[in-house]
Amino acid sequence: MDSNYWDEKYSVEEFIYTKVVNRFVAELCGDLEVSGNRRAIELAGGEGRNAVWLAKQGWQVENIDFSQKALDKYLAFAKEEGVAELCSANCADALEFEPLVSPVELAVIAYLQIPEAKLEIATRRLASHVAEGRYLMGVWHSRDNLTGGFGGPRTLMFT
Ligand SMILES: C[S@@+](CC[C@H](N)C(=O)[O-])C[C@H]1O[C@@H](n2cnc3c(N)ncnc32)[C@H](O)[C@@H]1O
Repeated sequence: MDSNYWDEKYSVEEFIYTKVVNRFVAELCGDLEVSGNRRAIELAGGEGRNAVWLAKQGWQVENIDFSQKALDKYLAFAKEEGVAELCSANCADALEFEPLVSPVELAVIAYLQIPEAKLEIATRRLASHVAEGRYLMGVWHSRDNLTGGFGGPRTLMFT
């Protein structure tokens, strides 16, 4: 699935993945004790439900996604929630992105649906931008999801 696929998917007024933070992101990132800088990247953050929530927790967040449509919705959402000054967008591919800010104290990747080998490259790249001793947090679909789960891809063969 290329960026055109995602742009088309996001070309509706509603928020496809809602404006509600993912529950695992909220659970694991809500109580992080980080003194000093609170800089974060969300890789493949889409319409920004997690990035905007992080900004509301005081994080300066960069949402990196290759869908400009998603990023436009995210920036409008951040403005609506009064956290625009904490939210930046970076339209780039997960395999070759260069963050605007690095290193960061928190990197989040949630439901980036790309083949396993590419996901490993993207995750390693993201991890390389995390400051020493700080946090990388990921949420993925289980393989069981292919047959018995809820949401997400129905095949491992998507590109
Ligand atoms: C299922 S959505 C998840 C969005 C967000 N993380 C969330 O939980 O609401 C997957 C996102 O990955 C993005 N994406 C897919 N492949 C990508 C790639 N190669 N580089 C950057 N973004 C990608 C899509 O544009 C989409 O926004």
